[in-house]
Amino acid sequence: MTSGRISHTAGIGLRLAHLAEMVATRPSTGWLEIHPENFLANPHASELLTELAGHFPISVHTVGLSIGSATGLDKAHLRRIRSLVDAIDPIFISGHLAWSTYQQEYLNDLLPLPYSEETLRLVTENVNEVQDALCRPYLIENPASYVGFHPSTIKETEFLSEIVRRTGCELLCDVSNIVVSAHNMGYDAHEYIDEFPADAIAEIHLGGFTPEEDPATRGAELWIDTHAATIAERSWDLYAYAIRRFGTRPTLIEWDNDIPPLSTLVAEATKADRIVQPESRYA
Ligand SMILES: [Fe+2]
Repeated sequence: MTSGRISHTAGIGLRLAHLAEMVATRPSTGWLEIHPENFLANPHASELLTELAGHFPISVHTVGLSIGSATGLDKAHLRRIRSLVDAIDPIFISGHLAWSTYQQEYLNDLLPLPYSEETLRLVTENVNEVQDALCRPYLIENPASYVGFHPSTIKETEFLSEIVRRTGCELLCDVSNIVVSAHNMGYDAHEYIDEFPADAIAEIHLGGFTPEEDPATRGAELWIDTHAATIAERSWDLYAYAIRRFGTRPTLIEWDNDIPPLSTLVAEATKADRIVQPESRYA
């Protein structure tokens, strides 16, 4: 497993706002995760990223590959990701079980999929294409959910298991997404963890969410996966539960909006490390 290259369990999302400070101060954090789409068209940021890759293991979290797309993958984008991968040799490459493109249109969101046999075939085909193009296993992340579909006939955890079986891909378990989805969709988060295909998990995500009034129900809260806040206590509690079931996994602190000082992200990563110590330290 590639996590042998990681010196701490927890890492932080590298955002452009922190890039210069990261290069100048190199804070104590185990590893970094990037959204490649932020770097591909930014030569200065790419240069600084290459420098950081000499000091930190880097994980690549794609937000534009759209493995749930029914109209095929953007092959030019896939080639651009491949050239970045060749340059920085990441520890992981991941993306969501979602879709965000339709033909040539890019939608600035991660949209949900119905869990059906037809979608299984579609995602399998796309994941195989990604893995063939990148020559590495791809990690698929469970999404934060706000709606379900009547045509869904397969539980999300079973859907993920089947994609793993058909493609040999790995999984990214976003514990905060489970907290959000369990609240919004009305299921038990601990049961979801119990059913998650643990052997395939290569990485865990933790991020903050924001409660908002649900316009559909008036009064009930919808929890939105904003990545704009500290990690909620219930997410830390579920993380501790997940670690007890899965064992220690490299864990990433995600923060994408209302970005705080770099020290806040490092402190959240330290908190994750403390939850899993002493067995969290990789030699
Ligand atoms: Fe995530």
